[in-house]
Amino acid sequence: METVARASSPRGELVLRRRDDGHLELRANGVFVMDTLEHTSERALADHALELADCDSLRVLVGGLGLGFTLGAVLADPRVVRCTVAEIEPDLVGWLRDGTVPHGPALLADSRVDVQIGDVADVLRAAATAYDVVLLDVDNGPDYLVHDTNAALYAEPALVTAQAALAPGGSLVIWSAARASELEHALREVFGNAEEQSYDVPGHGRVGQYFVYAARR
Ligand SMILES: C[S@@+](CC[C@H](N)C(=O)[O-])C[C@H]1O[C@@H](n2cnc3c(N)ncnc32)[C@H](O)[C@@H]1O
Repeated sequence: METVARASSPRGELVLRRRDDGHLELRANGVFVMDTLEHTSERALADHALELADCDSLRVLVGGLGLGFTLGAVLADPRVVRCTVAEIEPDLVGWLRDGTVPHGPALLADSRVDVQIGDVADVLRAAATAYDVVLLDVDNGPDYLVHDTNAALYAEPALVTAQAALAPGGSLVIWSAARASELEHALREVFGNAEEQSYDVPGHGRVGQYFVYAARR
């Protein structure tokens, strides 16, 4: 295992490591965030949200750049005219920009991409655009948080803010590592509708299950 890059921020330590299998792994305060080996669910999040969108020209907000797989899936859809990415860790954005994460420079060079460094909650509150799709994958879901401060993002006031940032007919789609019934309930309260989808994802010698929650304005 080789440490490729390391950074400190108000949220603690962020480390990018290259494992013996050659894949990159991102850890925050020692907790596994994601790797470049298994990114089915990150892409599925985008694919699911884009399937729900029925207009020809899409403005998308991605909450959480991570290693860029959700962003890559968004950019693969030719209907996407603009993709704003909110990422709280400036060093991570730097690692994708400078090629420390090898597939990063091409992704971020796409002229449709606008990276906003900061908390996605603030980006949503200040939304100058009405988004057609808002994707949230900033944490492991409401019940297995990497950063406790993200709890508020899954609660009703933040969901109301996200709803206000959507154009009529637009969708909010949220990734979760575990079933999140309270989140589904909160989405129903705010949007009047909500849908849960589960995915089986192989990895680490087991099949895991991941969940995606969607609500439409
Ligand atoms: C699980 S990763 C996202 C993975 C991404 N979907 C991908 O395909 O690689 C979560 C990301 O959200 C960022 N993050 C965490 N909390 C955030 C917040 N409140 N606002 C914006 N970004 C946040 C983390 O730094 C991390 O890069």
